[in-house]
Amino acid sequence: MKILMVCLGNICRSPLAEGIMQHLADKEGLNWEIDSAGTGNWHVGDGPDHRSVRTARLHGIDISRQICRLFNPADFDEFDHILVMDKSNLSNVLAMARNDGDRKKVSMLLGDKIVPDPYHDDSQFEPVFKLIEAGCKAFIERYKGIL
Ligand code: 4NP
Repeated sequence: MKILMVCLGNICRSPLAEGIMQHLADKEGLNWEIDSAGTGNWHVGDGPDHRSVRTARLHGIDISRQICRLFNPADFDEFDHILVMDKSNLSNVLAMARNDGDRKKVSMLLGDKIVPDPYHDDSQFEPVFKLIEAGCKAFIERYKGIL
């Protein structure tokens, strides 16, 4: 199964989500490939925000080699699930969907709850890690037997 994590900048939340989901899926022995992308282009080519790198490292996960990229409609063909962090990511991605098949692949990682953007608040990186981790665990429980 291939899963794409999407946020706005692809430097704070979705790199964490990529690292956490890959780590948990690997631990479960699942042959899942996880990637991430952003809907904004400010940081394309950059590594993740140092606060996300540090928070992940404190939990034993290395996200330092990820490279920021833009979401593009070809991702609808490449991935089975596209998991976004908040409602604005959701509308940005859905605006690029070409048909119902594309739309069905998109959901918020936490269902009806959002993963808030920690970019302007250093203290939010650890809580955001925990929210994403809980969302990834729930997703794995739901899908590990299916694909
Ligand atoms: P992210 O956070 O969407 O979790 O990666 C952001 C990072 C950078 C910006 C916005 C959100 N920015 O405007 O540069």
